[in-house]
Amino acid sequence: MSDQQDHSYHYNRGGMYAFMFSMVLVFSFFFYLVAIHKGVDLDEKVVDPHAPQAENAAPAFDINSVKEPWVSTPELVAYGKKQFETNCSMCHGPEGKGDGPAGQGLKPPPRNLVEGKWTQGVGAIAHFKVLEHGIPGSSMPSFGQLKAADRWALVQFVQSITQNKGNDTPAQIAEFAKTAK
Ligand code: HEC
Repeated sequence: MSDQQDHSYHYNRGGMYAFMFSMVLVFSFFFYLVAIHKGVDLDEKVVDPHAPQAENAAPAFDINSVKEPWVSTPELVAYGKKQFETNCSMCHGPEGKGDGPAGQGLKPPPRNLVEGKWTQGVGAIAHFKVLEHGIPGSSMPSFGQLKAADRWALVQFVQSITQNKGNDTPAQIAEFAKTAK
């Protein structure tokens, strides 16, 4: 009888040691988390959008620093697109398809610049002249009040979306650009 009691006593004590040992483990783990590891900081992984990129980012595009705006670059096309959204898309549509809200009912209607069925000549030089003078007898206004560089950027954007780009050579365009104000 006492043997049996001893047995169960030892058995229970073993179980209790195991339980206590695991509790010690659990508490030391919490101690580790709270006191040593200082918890798991969820914010740790959140990337601050301003911090590292700000140093690496390209400086903002400045049209006034472009020496030859008649030479197309991706930056000029992107800048021209913004100018287009401000000055042209109300008539020519957001994608230049001739479907802007202010163009509805105009006669003749604003041109679909993507199809590029030009009446004033094909290519960058002809488009620059259209922006300078407008198209008399139509609602295509002159944009002579814009800086020449802005007009070139608009031309680069039109050239980027049209299927009818023309054959002006870079040399011809550069030659013309000297006279264009
Ligand atoms: C008030 C509406 C209106 C605005 C704003 C406007 N256009 Fe036009 N545009 C027209 C119309 C109308 C025509 C077609 C005229 C025609 O068929 O004679 C046209 C024609 C053109 C053409 C065709 C030239 C050709 O050779 O056929 C180009 C290129 C053009 N626009 C570019 C622009 C650009 C770039 C802007 C913005 C800077 C702009 N337009 C703003 C109404 C507008």
